[in-house]
Amino acid sequence: MRRKLVAGNWKMNGSLASLAELDGIGAALDPRIDVAIAVPATLIAPAAARAAFPIGAEDVHSADSGAHTGCISAAMAKEAGAAFSIVGHSERRQGQCESDADVKAKAEALRRHGMNAILCVGETLDEREAGRAVAVVTAQVRASLPEGAAGDWLAIAYEPIWAIGTGRTATVEDVEAMHGAIRATLVELLGAEPGAAVRLLYGGSVTADNAAALLHARDVDGALVGGASLTAAKFAPIIAAGA
Ligand code: PGA
Repeated sequence: MRRKLVAGNWKMNGSLASLAELDGIGAALDPRIDVAIAVPATLIAPAAARAAFPIGAEDVHSADSGAHTGCISAAMAKEAGAAFSIVGHSERRQGQCESDADVKAKAEALRRHGMNAILCVGETLDEREAGRAVAVVTAQVRASLPEGAAGDWLAIAYEPIWAIGTGRTATVEDVEAMHGAIRATLVELLGAEPGAAVRLLYGGSVTADNAAALLHARDVDGALVGGASLTAAKFAPIIAAGA
């Protein structure tokens, strides 16, 4: 039985003053649901000290240390208090030219340091309209799946790029079809039981209004929430919708 995970991603938003939102989110925790929030690197330490649930990084470098100006390693994020990191978010795949191989190596770095990973995949609008969404996303899963992939530390987030921050969500039917294809790929690569244990999250304009339908769709084990994770007022109802 996979527990649902409602994860937030603050992206390049928030400040020390925003950490008060973590108190309100903590007050909305439900024993049936896992909750986690990825915050900017500068906020990991104070957020982890304050939150009653796991705090994560939004990205880590695949190397443990070295000449990588501006980057942080998994070990650094962990020392600051991060329990997990997002890897392969489309804003990094596109904006920072990250490849599937980079994403795989980042997830493996997290595992080396005993951290959890949320690994993102998703197609562009052009790819969906060309009927290639399932092929593109399952190819990303194959190429970015880390060694040792297992449900106790890895979740995969399906985030259609055209749905991120646009107010446009995929239909429940589209999400179920894609999650079914990802699940089949995981079962093929990892075997029946391990492949069934990895949680599959949906991300892309999840709000209080659509969360219940998405979170209770077939093969959906949670959500990765951007804009609506920035305040307790918006995030708490999404946690409640998953219960
Ligand atoms: P959004 O972002 O909820 O603001 O669409 C989701 C994400 O990018 O993880």
